[in-house]
Amino acid sequence: IPKNLQRDEEETISLISSLPSDIDFHGRELFKYQECWYDNKTLQGILNFQQGFEPQDTDIIVASFPKSGTTWLKALTVALLERSKHYSHDHPLLLDNPHGLVPVLELRLFTESSNPDLTNILSSPRLFSTHVPFHTLREALKNSPCKIVYVWRNVKDALVSLWYFECANLKIEEERSMLESMFESFCSGVSYYGPFWEHVLSYWRGSLEDSKNVLFLRYEELKTEPHVQLKKLAEFLNCPFTVEEEESGSVEEILELCSLRNLKNLEINKTGKTARGVDHNNFFRKGEIGDSKNYLTHEMEKRIDMIIEEKFRGSDLKF
Ligand code: A3P
Repeated sequence: IPKNLQRDEEETISLISSLPSDIDFHGRELFKYQECWYDNKTLQGILNFQQGFEPQDTDIIVASFPKSGTTWLKALTVALLERSKHYSHDHPLLLDNPHGLVPVLELRLFTESSNPDLTNILSSPRLFSTHVPFHTLREALKNSPCKIVYVWRNVKDALVSLWYFECANLKIEEERSMLESMFESFCSGVSYYGPFWEHVLSYWRGSLEDSKNVLFLRYEELKTEPHVQLKKLAEFLNCPFTVEEEESGSVEEILELCSLRNLKNLEINKTGKTARGVDHNNFFRKGEIGDSKNYLTHEMEKRIDMIIEEKFRGSDLKF
């Protein structure tokens, strides 16, 4: 290893060990960096990303707190940009899972190095994703006017979705005790990529400061008014639907292609795994608004609602 890289690595290790640390519900050590919590490996990826990413002005970044609709937003973005391909057999969504097409910068591309090979990324424009909060992302973008699309979701549904996802990945039955400890982590804010509220508020502020380059979407609105939201996304990405496209049903076609039911049943998503070994299938569950009601007690709901209400006070965000 060249000497300068060795020094970088030492610096990284020393920076990480100087950060506040705590233990999450898994018993995993998390470190607090720029107001949010990460495990060691993720943090190394973030530091590499912030140091080495060379943004292009046309880059598009799909951002989210985990389990907030990332897969859907990635699919919609790919489908919008590739809409000339319609349903042809070489449509990217038929060949790979949305997470393969739009890789997470800090979890996949920059985990090992600050100078990864990005030549295999879907290009023109390049599509990336991230789960880091806005201030951390902005540092990595170094003033480049990339387009950032953020999706957020009700905290309770994101929590229950995460519980299912963790259990599916561990191939265990859903254990209530695990949900309860995850709930405590969420409430205390010491959770992977958390606190949830810091995350959402960072992008909300970012979208107010720079609405041209930061689009702030809500999962629930994508569900209840998909046409409106998809058209908004297309305009934001400078690829609005033409009148002819609208008349010929292009909006509906993309929504159908990216529907949970359709994606879940594609061969690539029934069988494949991501580069990190997660079954594609685990990214698709129910996709319902308010499903958390079936799992959280009334007390749990009240407690987390009160926390979010307090944290969101002063913003116009409705939880
Ligand atoms: P549920 O667990 O509530 O069903 P992420 O993509 O950020 O990991 O979020 C996963 C959540 O989005 C899961 O929610 C999943 O079912 C839902 N989801 C995945 N693909 C979707 C799609 N095409 N449309 C709507 N929801 C989708």
